[in-house]
Amino acid sequence: MRYSSPRVAMTSLFSAIALIHTVVGTPNIIDTVIKEDKTWSTGQVSKFGVEYFTSHLGGQKPDLLYIGCSDSRVPSDIFMNVTLGEVFTHRNIGNSIISRDPNTMSVIDYALNHLNVSTIAITGHSQCGGVKASMNPGELEDSIKTFIKPITKLYRKNKKYIDSLPTDQERQQFLVELNVKRLVRVASKLQSVKDRWRKGLPLAIYGLVYKLEDGSLNNLNVTVTKRNQFDRKHLPALWAKGLTL
Ligand SMILES: *[C@@H]1O[C@H](CO)[C@@H](O)[C@H](O)[C@H]1NC(C)=O
Ligand SMILES: *[C@@H]1O[C@H](CO)[C@@H](O)[C@H](O)[C@H]1NC(C)=O
Ligand SMILES: *[C@@H]1O[C@H](CO)[C@@H](O)[C@H](O)[C@H]1NC(C)=O
Ligand SMILES: [Zn+2]
Repeated sequence: MRYSSPRVAMTSLFSAIALIHTVVGTPNIIDTVIKEDKTWSTGQVSKFGVEYFTSHLGGQKPDLLYIGCSDSRVPSDIFMNVTLGEVFTHRNIGNSIISRDPNTMSVIDYALNHLNVSTIAITGHSQCGGVKASMNPGELEDSIKTFIKPITKLYRKNKKYIDSLPTDQERQQFLVELNVKRLVRVASKLQSVKDRWRKGLPLAIYGLVYKLEDGSLNNLNVTVTKRNQFDRKHLPALWAKGLTL
């Protein structure tokens, strides 16, 4: 590094700060969230006592594994109004479950085998960018294209039915819901899920959809609580409409 006078150094420091402000905006979002956190955490302590935090230090015992989309408009803890320790959460693009993805698989295995969670909620949402993109993946980065490929395949398999729906909005919403149904089936065939049922431990897998339009969480009624239940109970209804997973 070349020597520069303190004055030159100060000047470049100021221009660096000015540049940072231009790039990230003022005030910096991290400063803001740290400040918000301070207000929140001290507020919780004054309302509920320090036990609000310390009572959870022994470990977690959530009842629910939530699998949802990373979309910033789908804040699950907020719309389910849950508090600390209640929900084990996994979010990715398109609330996906891909059996060769160690990220999602480790979350599911940990939730079932170590946390003994007995309910999984696979939650899609309206206006899902991942689902939209899957219908037309041409220009996407390889990472995204690969990740959402199962949704693209689902669309292609059911293209005739989906394309016959009158609006883009309805086509997307239909694929969002069909994809959640597919994922309930995918989840029901995972090893740790089958193991849990084989051991006689309770496990229910739900398919839900959150609507950005009104904040409602809706049950798609494709719940499975035992092996092969999806194929016996829910698949025939889809086949009857000419649909396939
Ligand atoms: C959220 O849950 C808390 C704790 O159960 C409850 O006191 C509160 O009223 C709920 N909030 C809303 C908006 O329902
Ligand atoms: C796991 O949860 C089930 C109920 O869902 C309960 O019967 C069982 O005892 C729990 N196992 C452990 C090790 O906590
Ligand atoms: C699921 O079942 C509930 C209760 O019967 C019903 O209100 C809801 O409309 C059903 N949802 C769908 C998508 O069929
Ligand atoms: Zn989404």
